[in-house]
Amino acid sequence: MRAVVCESFDSPENLTVTEVEKPEPGDNQVLVRIESTGLGYVDALTVAGLYQIKPNLPFVPGNELSGVIEQIGNNVKHLRIGQRILASANGGLAEYTVVDESKCTPIPESLSHDAAAGFLVNYCTAFQGFSYWGQLKEKERVLILGGSGGVGIAAIDVARAMGAMVIAAASTKKKRDACLEAGATHVIDYTKENWRDKLKEILAGEPLDVVYDPVGGDYAEPALRSLGPDGRYLVVGFASGDIPKFPINLVLLKRCSIVGVNWGGHIAENPSTYREVMTTLMEWVAEEKIRPLSGEAFALADAGKAMMKMLDRKAIGKIVINPSV
Ligand SMILES: NC(=O)c1ccc[n+]([C@@H]2O[C@H](COP(=O)([O-])OP(=O)(O)OC[C@H]3O[C@@H](n4cnc5c(N)ncnc54)[C@H](OP(=O)(O)O)[C@@H]3O)[C@@H](O)[C@H]2O)c1
Repeated sequence: MRAVVCESFDSPENLTVTEVEKPEPGDNQVLVRIESTGLGYVDALTVAGLYQIKPNLPFVPGNELSGVIEQIGNNVKHLRIGQRILASANGGLAEYTVVDESKCTPIPESLSHDAAAGFLVNYCTAFQGFSYWGQLKEKERVLILGGSGGVGIAAIDVARAMGAMVIAAASTKKKRDACLEAGATHVIDYTKENWRDKLKEILAGEPLDVVYDPVGGDYAEPALRSLGPDGRYLVVGFASGDIPKFPINLVLLKRCSIVGVNWGGHIAENPSTYREVMTTLMEWVAEEKIRPLSGEAFALADAGKAMMKMLDRKAIGKIVINPSV
């Protein structure tokens, strides 16, 4: 089968497709024909050797996918051949991979493989971020930085579904239009020096309750300063490449909290949360309470090009790779 194998930590543009052996499922695993693999900023950093966690070389990148079950292991009880699933798994940039039964979630026909492949991490992070860490309530006002990125688009959809007023910040008109399409109530160009004035205008005297920040860098402190009393600043990621440092007296003066959102870390210690959150989110999909969008799709041979698009700040939404193309 064809796969993208990362032989050394290097620029993603040097990734190529090679022939590798098709895997066999273990007793508690299924063999999945991958239809679509979601890529995040982390995948691009990992290939480049710039992420905090470095996998052993060589490895096949891609950790979340959607596909069809082709073979099942002897002890698999709840899945069947031909079933459409999404999963967190290793080796997503390949035509096939094996996945533990416990990591698979069946998906409805209404959810396309491209939308499903970009769903898991970003929607779970947004759901747990807003409900558990952010204590978001209906009608509260949320500012989402990097609103048009994979993490941002999912956060817009989830915050809207929870009844919040959603203000999304992004750097270009095309990106801000994508935020509006995803359900943002208002958009802001946060590359403009006076963007907080625009935010105040939108808030019209009401407080800002939550900031959802997957970007960091220079946008972070003005966003923190914009929070109202009892506001919650959710630290999600640092796509700008710059980890912000806040004067801690701001937290006291503003009576706000800064909370770390770490989906992967949380489910490693609380595995039952994964199933609970996915069950709720799949219900929301069925009720059309959330509307996961398909990101831009690339062929397997263009996986490196797709990762470069993210690193070059040009991506909109969650990028996916179609391994059969
Ligand atoms: N905490 C968690 O559990 C969790 C889960 C998933 C991902 N994350 C993290 O969330 C962050 C975003 O991931 P993502 O997959 O959404 O990435 P993405 O799709 O590439 O989006 C990142 C956004 O950041 C903005 N940005 C600002 N400066 C940038 C720069 N120098 N380079 C690239 N983008 C820049 C861009 O929007 P503008 O051009 O509009 O500024 C872009 O849309 C990453 O740091 C990732 O590690 C955290």
